[in-house]
Amino acid sequence: MLTALTQTADFIKSKTGFTPDVGIILGSGLGGLVAKMQIEHTLPYSELPNFPVSTVAGHGSRLIMGTLGNTKVVVMQGRFHFYEGYTFEQLTFPVRVLKFLGIKKLFLSNAAGGMNTNFKVGDLMVIDDHINLMPGNPLIGKNIDELGPRFPDMSAPYDIDLQNQALQIAAKKGYRCHTGVYAAVSGPTYETRAEYKFLRTIGADAVGMSTVPEVMVARHMDLPCFAMSIITDLGGMELVETITHEEVLKVAAEAEVKMTAIVMQMLA
Ligand code: HPA
Repeated sequence: MLTALTQTADFIKSKTGFTPDVGIILGSGLGGLVAKMQIEHTLPYSELPNFPVSTVAGHGSRLIMGTLGNTKVVVMQGRFHFYEGYTFEQLTFPVRVLKFLGIKKLFLSNAAGGMNTNFKVGDLMVIDDHINLMPGNPLIGKNIDELGPRFPDMSAPYDIDLQNQALQIAAKKGYRCHTGVYAAVSGPTYETRAEYKFLRTIGADAVGMSTVPEVMVARHMDLPCFAMSIITDLGGMELVETITHEEVLKVAAEAEVKMTAIVMQMLA
């Protein structure tokens, strides 16, 4: 693992000479940030040694480096999901690479289903905590002591200062923005009515199929994390409406403008 990480990071450094301060993992339909970037380098995943290759329609598959709000960022356009068939180790490999490139903070976005009855479709949620219900953990196996401890602390996985900053910006702009607990499931099926009810009962406000593996790997390396969800559909209400991937993408595109504005201001 260490050899592969060093090889991939060295390859990217030699191609770009770029040292990013913040890494950003863009989820479903949240590509609006890229349009605001002053792009300096674009590297397709397929050209990076040891990198997995993205399989989902609607996701780009490249690393983009440049500046956003005066901050040097590396953006992963296209992330990897467990439901695509990757192992947890494979899908979190890029997070470790970003750390090796020098990032000091990791930002992540995703689309999620809302269970909290105060939520509406199109709302934003700053993630304050998570519940890992995925069938595994990327840190299982021999610990890589050079990266972090055997038993990483998870009492505050999401940086509280970054959360407060995002909430203040959202409030000033008048956006509907909550904080909450994100439950991570494997997918690719959306939840049944009974599953939404179960997730609400155990304390989750939203549910999705990403983010948590990346955050576990980032926290292992003591990398501060900030993550935000777009609530694209509601489950666990009296009546669960049918969900399609197209609807999720449509709502995500509409809320993208708001999330982009918040993140831009945080970076500035
Ligand atoms: N469940 C799981 N993942 C999701 C959902 C959902 O309702 N909406 C968007 N991603």
